[in-house]
Amino acid sequence: MKYDLKKFTLEEKVRLVAGKDTWHTDDLDGKVYKVKVSDGPVGLRTPNLGGEWGGKTIPAVAFPSTQVLAQSWTPALAYKTGELLADECIERNVDVLLAPGINVKRLPQCGRNFEYVSEDPYLSGIFGREYIKGVQDHHVGTSLKHYCANNQENSRLSQSSELDERTLREIYTYNFKIALEAKPWTVMSSYNAVNGLKVSQHKKLNDMLREDLGFDGLIMSDWGAVDNHVASVKSGLDLEMPYKKENMEALLAAVQSGEVTEEELDARCIKVLELCEKCENEKKLQKISTTVDERRKAAQRVAEEGIVLLKNNGVLPIGDGKSVSVIGEGATKNISGGGSSRVVLDRDAAKLPDELRACLPASEISHVEFYGGKISRCINNAYGKDVSVVCVDQIDSEGIDRDSIRLSSRLEEVIIETARLNPNTVVVLYCGSVIDMTAWGDKVAAIVTAGYPGERGNAAIAKILSGKVNPSGKTTETYPETLDDCLANHCLRDFCHSIYSDGLLVGYRWYDTAKYMGKENEARVRYPFGYGLSYSSFEYSGLKLADNGDNILVEFDVKNVSDIDGKECAQVYYRKPVSSVFRPYKELCGFEKKLIKSGKSEHYTITVPKEYLAYYSTATDKWEIEKGDYEILVGASCEDIRLMGKANI
Ligand code: BGC
Repeated sequence: MKYDLKKFTLEEKVRLVAGKDTWHTDDLDGKVYKVKVSDGPVGLRTPNLGGEWGGKTIPAVAFPSTQVLAQSWTPALAYKTGELLADECIERNVDVLLAPGINVKRLPQCGRNFEYVSEDPYLSGIFGREYIKGVQDHHVGTSLKHYCANNQENSRLSQSSELDERTLREIYTYNFKIALEAKPWTVMSSYNAVNGLKVSQHKKLNDMLREDLGFDGLIMSDWGAVDNHVASVKSGLDLEMPYKKENMEALLAAVQSGEVTEEELDARCIKVLELCEKCENEKKLQKISTTVDERRKAAQRVAEEGIVLLKNNGVLPIGDGKSVSVIGEGATKNISGGGSSRVVLDRDAAKLPDELRACLPASEISHVEFYGGKISRCINNAYGKDVSVVCVDQIDSEGIDRDSIRLSSRLEEVIIETARLNPNTVVVLYCGSVIDMTAWGDKVAAIVTAGYPGERGNAAIAKILSGKVNPSGKTTETYPETLDDCLANHCLRDFCHSIYSDGLLVGYRWYDTAKYMGKENEARVRYPFGYGLSYSSFEYSGLKLADNGDNILVEFDVKNVSDIDGKECAQVYYRKPVSSVFRPYKELCGFEKKLIKSGKSEHYTITVPKEYLAYYSTATDKWEIEKGDYEILVGASCEDIRLMGKANI
């Protein structure tokens, strides 16, 4: 390292381990490189006010939310998104992007689910890993967040996630274990406490991150997460963000009194200086390789791959010449989530009516909005049209969880009344997470879940509705019938504690296992994990399993038996029917999405490392791969298993 720690005074060292302001590290009056950081996962949010909170955000490209990216089931698109965001960072002089967020979606109502990948830790880890590689291959750093067990927004600063060791290892840090393979420059620790101790002061979690998960970069706090900087430094947290005067004074006093040893402080300073040096060196290698326009086009491609067709009675795709009534504001705006990931645009987002006109030139397309207009006018507009497209939006936000996963009663009413007037009603959901559709799901002809699809999202939706793009997104979280069907929602929680008594049974692990154990009435599912429709149909055949020592090779064919080209994401799950420890019914261990031409077959080869079949033993304190038979299940979704074979280990 070029910096010699011996040349720094004690005061300087104390300054080093806390931010200079909200968005920079301290350059010690020009002595070290000043690192600039900015949010966030779905586009760049760089405030124009230098280092302060507030002010305006510099406009940037609004990418589809992480939820949409993940629904593409195409890790290469996470890599691509990372590359494009690196260019946005380079243009704005940002050294470290505060992304990706990979927390497991335990509660469907979590306000930040749109920023996260999945309810499955393995899938979350893979997307996180590829995203990090994409950014860092362009010499910009990342901050993998939020480590860990930060799975709700309500009381996020005060609440303790109370969970057992195996659940912590297999679910809430397994995502990090995989993503860390990409060696992010930094990891952001979360706001919450775990088992009673704030993560920002959690030596055991910091040690686990470095020793067991192999992280050798810098650990920074989430913004304002540090209550006690002395305890944080002693626990191994390297950098407090942002700057807080009283914390810095307390730290200085603690070092002077011997409560914090100089070695402890030095260890933190070294990590900060390593980051400064890395940022300075990598900056020299940066080169912008895309234009803003190319980034916007790529953002549209992500949306085309990640939007999910949940239901279709045949009304979609809409044929050219059909009259279409488009209802709702989502159709013309960039609907996005609230909080630190919010991106500001300096241009109009794509508008669904215009984009539909371009895709369906012979069609008559009309548009009315709900708000400001009368509901009756909206609904009446649907009457007599060949198809009505109801665009409903719901803004989820950082800092607050939803009270309910139903749409507002007003939106439900619009959908129900429109469907009454027009049986060919298609609902497009612009929502951050899953929605309870019990009131209207059976009444409409088609449902498309667009998530927050970014500034070009409506262009992607138009292509999907008109059949110019064959939908290929699949869900990465289960759509339960109601919130009541979700086990995590029944676990006790109050302002101070969230008890993870659901253990390993998160997401599909619960719905699946409950069904196996005869409790399907308590775990009803509307759309399962890994589910999504296409305008094509696919047939699976010819499963072959081979063992090459470290991996199980899963090979099979998928045939497109329709008359249009389409993409199919096949998923591989494993099951250990006889196990010494409890295991969820089945768990995802591989997937691949391929384009299959009409009438043709594609051969899939998916490599499943045997270590993915391990469980964390609290009896031996290590990962164990049990011997014996494993069922290998290949499916179009977690509930639609098409092929099954056995592997023996
Ligand atoms: C969020 C982080 C974000 C940080 C800086 C916090 O409130 O939890 O995800 O990176 O603010 O904006």
